[in-house]
Amino acid sequence: MAIPYNKRTHQCGELRAPQVGQKVRLAGWVDSYRDHGGMAFIDLRDYTGITQVRFNPEGNAAALELARSLRTEDVIVIEGTVVSRGTNINPRIPTGEIEVIGEALDLLSKAEPPPFEISDRTDASEELRLKHRYLDLRRPVMQRVFRMRHVIAKTIRDYFDANGFVEIETPFLTKSTPEGARDYLVPSRVRQGSFYALPQSPQIFKQLFMVAGFERYAQIVRCFRDEDLRADRQPEFTQLDMEMSFVQADDVMTMVEGCAKAIFRNALGIDVRTPLPRMTYQEAMDRFGIDRPDTRFGLELQDVTDLVRGVEFAPFKEAAASGGVVKCIVASGGEALTRKVTDGLTEEIKGIGGVGVPIVKVAAGDAGPAFSTGIAKHVEPLASAICTRTGAKPGDTIFFMPGAYDEVCKYLHHVRTRLAEILKLIPENRWDLLWVVDFPMMTYDPEEKRWFSTHHPFTAPMDEDIPLLDTEPNKARSKAYDLVLNGTEMAGGSIRIHQRDVQARVFNLLGISDEEAQLKFSFLLDGLKYGAPPHGGIAFGLDRWVMVLTKMPSLRDVVAFPKTQRAVCLLTGAPTPVAAKQLDELALISKAPPAI
Ligand code: AMO
Repeated sequence: MAIPYNKRTHQCGELRAPQVGQKVRLAGWVDSYRDHGGMAFIDLRDYTGITQVRFNPEGNAAALELARSLRTEDVIVIEGTVVSRGTNINPRIPTGEIEVIGEALDLLSKAEPPPFEISDRTDASEELRLKHRYLDLRRPVMQRVFRMRHVIAKTIRDYFDANGFVEIETPFLTKSTPEGARDYLVPSRVRQGSFYALPQSPQIFKQLFMVAGFERYAQIVRCFRDEDLRADRQPEFTQLDMEMSFVQADDVMTMVEGCAKAIFRNALGIDVRTPLPRMTYQEAMDRFGIDRPDTRFGLELQDVTDLVRGVEFAPFKEAAASGGVVKCIVASGGEALTRKVTDGLTEEIKGIGGVGVPIVKVAAGDAGPAFSTGIAKHVEPLASAICTRTGAKPGDTIFFMPGAYDEVCKYLHHVRTRLAEILKLIPENRWDLLWVVDFPMMTYDPEEKRWFSTHHPFTAPMDEDIPLLDTEPNKARSKAYDLVLNGTEMAGGSIRIHQRDVQARVFNLLGISDEEAQLKFSFLLDGLKYGAPPHGGIAFGLDRWVMVLTKMPSLRDVVAFPKTQRAVCLLTGAPTPVAAKQLDELALISKAPPAI
């Protein structure tokens, strides 16, 4: 008679000494098997763990024979009795004190040999893993990640529910909702020549919920952005999106801090102290070269522009004379900073558009500190002044960067991050959460010769900076805030513009004419006419929370069926060419030959 696999008594990771003597029924996958002295040993695995099952020669002969024929990843159900392993405990698994003496066995599904081993450690390429993602997800480490993802999502949903937020869905087939990326377009069949855009975020809809009087909205929602992909970006990703009415920035930030606290408590059992520290955008850029600073280690950027102004070294002289800056990072631990390493950093900086990173090493001279190697001969007279300013000591290496402020920030941020890795300065279990505030309203793009909103065009300017919008828009700050964890931007939000005239002015500054604004955003501008309460909100990148809290290196590890860097799903093969008939129905002609 078949074993009723739908009536399991336990999961494979559950059994311990107190269950010794009990009859049990377990089901799962064959993790490993071995024949030993006429006995068959099966390690049976499900998502909770592994139990060893032993089939003895004096037991059920048919079960023993079947057990001998099993191979990894076969799916089986067994019945047996839990026995103690006595002194033969396996300390590597939580069920190691016991084993089950198998009395009956059914094979539920025969498996072909998997293309890679189903274990935490794998040397399978990411490509192979993504192609067989269902097997990759079967690995215990991935099971843990996705169960953690569930805990985080549930914590967020429960938290906002408990605080009176309503979850309402917003459309996917919609109109462009600008967040700075390209839209994914969906052609309309019934209105040929017209396209929906998949939302980059529910931004405008959530603002309209405030106009509608919902006051507190929160949704876990998919967003779509056609942008260059990196380890921390996916073309479709999940946000916790929320909005509140009658609030100031502090109210939103306090609400978010409560949520961050709950996430840390439920996911990691860690108590986060609130209120979280805040840093202005300017301070973050000055000290760390980036608006999402990783404050777990030092290596801060230091400004030496005034000291090097007169020096006979062209890159420094030119930077200082042209309104740029010369900044540096002082690193201790000279032994690890070999010529190979510093040359490697120079190559990396070239790879991201720079010209390299000049260095000096600090030595003890007769009359105070002296410089050696790198650009020492050009800056030697400044050794004392630079070391006094930066605190550099003999044995340290100084990494300089001359140039325009933004470029210096970009390159030194790279140097800082790489040095922290090379010098192993990043503490294992430290969680540095902080707010970055006072962002500039707009950022100038010298290539496109126009202003872009630093957040999005619906972000409110600081009240005192509104007059600057007309005179010096580069100096106007916004009521925006980003939540940063260990150098990753986890959430971004702002207080919104709720007056139609201010919104129209900001559109104009961004080079969006009245006509264009009307065409693109009339549904928001109209909404603002009919009594919009002051409102603000934020969105968390749910995938990023899971990535950082599980310490996985890429978002691809925490999204069930992710896209590659080329925005391809290796499992399904999407995107794929479509039949000519489908294109005809949509009145589309594809100019590109189908990609292979
Ligand atoms: P923003 O564009 O800052 O703000 O996005 C909010 C958060 O979403 C995450 N995120 C991403 N995660 C994965 N892949 C991506 N491509 C990606 N892009 C963004 C980040 C980010 O902090 N509507 C506003 C929010 C608001 O103002 O309320 C918005 O979407 O963690």
